[in-house]
Amino acid sequence: MIHFEPATRTFNLHTAHSYYALRVDAEGRLVHLGWGLRPADAGPADRADGPFPWPHEVGFSLTVQFRPEEVLTFGDVSTHGVTLKANFPALAQPLAPGEAAHLPIRDLRLRYASHAVVMDAEPGLAPAHGQPVRNETPRETLRVRLVDPVQPLAVTACYRLTPEHDLLERWLELENLGPHPVTFDAVGFASLHLPQGATELTSLTGAWAREYTQERRRLSAGTLVLESRSLQTGHRANPVFLLNAPGQAAEDSGTVYFGALAYSGAWQLAFEQLPTWHLRVHAGYNPFDFQLVLAPGQRHATPALVCGVCGDGWGGASRRLHAFARERVLPAPSARPAYRPVLYNSWEATTFNLSYAGQAALAQKAAAMGVELFCVDDGWFGARRDDHAGLGDWFVRPDAFPDGLEALVAEVHRLGMKFGLWVEPEMINPDSDLYRAHPDWVLHFPGRPRTESRHQLILDFGRPEVVEHIFSVLDALVTRYQIAFYKWDMNRLASEPGSAAGQALWLAHVAGVYGIMDRLRAKHPALDIQSCSGGGGRVDLGILGRVDQVWASDNTDALDRVRIQEGFSLAYPARAMEAWVTHSFNGFTQRAAALRLRFDVAMRGALGIGTALNELDEAELAEYARYIAFYKRLRPIIQDGALYRLQRVEAHGASVIEYVAADGREAVYSIVVHDYRAGAFRPTAPLRGLHSGLVYRVSNRDGVEVQRATGYTLMTLGLPGQHGGPAGWSQTLHIVAEAE
Ligand code: GLA
Repeated sequence: MIHFEPATRTFNLHTAHSYYALRVDAEGRLVHLGWGLRPADAGPADRADGPFPWPHEVGFSLTVQFRPEEVLTFGDVSTHGVTLKANFPALAQPLAPGEAAHLPIRDLRLRYASHAVVMDAEPGLAPAHGQPVRNETPRETLRVRLVDPVQPLAVTACYRLTPEHDLLERWLELENLGPHPVTFDAVGFASLHLPQGATELTSLTGAWAREYTQERRRLSAGTLVLESRSLQTGHRANPVFLLNAPGQAAEDSGTVYFGALAYSGAWQLAFEQLPTWHLRVHAGYNPFDFQLVLAPGQRHATPALVCGVCGDGWGGASRRLHAFARERVLPAPSARPAYRPVLYNSWEATTFNLSYAGQAALAQKAAAMGVELFCVDDGWFGARRDDHAGLGDWFVRPDAFPDGLEALVAEVHRLGMKFGLWVEPEMINPDSDLYRAHPDWVLHFPGRPRTESRHQLILDFGRPEVVEHIFSVLDALVTRYQIAFYKWDMNRLASEPGSAAGQALWLAHVAGVYGIMDRLRAKHPALDIQSCSGGGGRVDLGILGRVDQVWASDNTDALDRVRIQEGFSLAYPARAMEAWVTHSFNGFTQRAAALRLRFDVAMRGALGIGTALNELDEAELAEYARYIAFYKRLRPIIQDGALYRLQRVEAHGASVIEYVAADGREAVYSIVVHDYRAGAFRPTAPLRGLHSGLVYRVSNRDGVEVQRATGYTLMTLGLPGQHGGPAGWSQTLHIVAEAE
């Protein structure tokens, strides 16, 4: 609900449990008033109003501008971080006496012009594929139009509410109203003003094969920057944060502020603690090498910062982001039943050694064990015998499939599975026909080196003809081979970012990727897409608007994966997290893992199989089939239920999680012992989200009952017999309420 009080010019934005208040002050500035939880007994008419809660017109020596404006602008602010920095090339009015023409004018002031509450406003780069999301209930957006008193520029600050999940999406719309171009050096989507003391930050950093590493630290005075400086979301950090007062939040309790960016390019989150101990979060495009030029009359809408506050700890923040992604971001499933299919991917089994016979043999084994989607990975195209050649030549590799791909597609369909294909559309090997034909189509600076990474260069998506070419190639493949699933990969960082689009490349690349995906989905509504970037390098709320699932990491070692997946779960939902069972010995970690452990970990997301099935004996294949059947019984709860992280690896050496169906009548309990601590008894983990008065049957994979107990007992004492077990011990249990 959005309310405006004309007498004080105060806006109150209410969600189920939170408020966000802002005000137009006497000078017409849009100033932040407060953000937090609503008192439990508050009614709809209770609103925050009254004087500003802290002084911000400080006039002491060595202080300039502590005023918490909603949109902080360079010029008005010069000693702290800003949301916007603009350069005006010309004077908007004649020079006054005593003025010199120091151009460009790097000074922007924003004053209130008008506001409106509208339904269904969309941030920049919102999906344009036209496919619905699960929850299409219209939402309110507050739009506050601000203008510079002198220069012809309008900035609209937008606030869209998703009340049921206590979420707010913030973005900016810029409009050049004048006759000259305006250049921006920095464009944030929003700056947040957090209460004093919310300085404990939980974030995700990492690297290839070690994505989503959780870090919890106390912010000190100054600015901490998390960012991507590339053309994808990145491995080094993921654009998500949780903030709370140190020591005052835990998994299930405490006030937590949180946010995530809906953008898959060079982003930045800057956490700035002012000398007053106020904390600001500046979120948006990375200002590194950034430039946005608005021509006369041109507009630009930024993507959104999704943010919220909750009172039920880090777990509560995660559950809100999960529900938001499932219901409001991910495309609604086109197929029925509406669950992610069990996938087989042949990458780890065959790498580049592809043939009809080899793939067909794998497909037959996969189908027999219950796989529903068969995806051929890298190596099916061009001269792709290894990673030195072929990227860009998206036609079937004749030495691997001399009779084309049609026979394999037909065989996969005959076996009752859908057919999927790996592509890496943004890339090109210099050893490719496409590069030989268009050496100018890659990012580069004239006369300068073109640094290769994995022997590949990046196509210049600043050129519309390149984007068009890639779309038409992918479009034709879908039609020709009845492709139901693209694994869209992206395997390198940017270098020498010279583009036909100049510095606008950073945005143009992301818009190009999104645009191709949107057009493919619009034209082929049954096509699913997986986002992959050398593992989990392209996961964010922007890409989730146009894909169905993501690859979290190339590291499929089960114990490593427990940590990676736990970090992933801070912000992203299980149904989007593809997780594979692979062979017992993991080459990355030089560790072996029991099949049970591998399944218990991979079943925590959207299950896939990546094992060399031709190396398994009949008994092992039968075991796989039993697990897959079990997973299919559990997946409605795993993929759509609420996630509770009952115990974290850090605290107890074990990861215990629970998924609970929306009606609380069914749940999945999953435990993995990560580190065995001799001499210690791990506490049991009481369950959550059940009904105290109902009796639940707890059963294992084979349907054998291991316990029968009331919801009350399960939510107080937990499950017995869960404290032991060496590292690698694991169990998945199905919990179902008995009929009353
Ligand atoms: C990347 C992906 C892998 C696989 C290879 C193929 O590393 O993350 O899953 O597809 O590329 O080259």
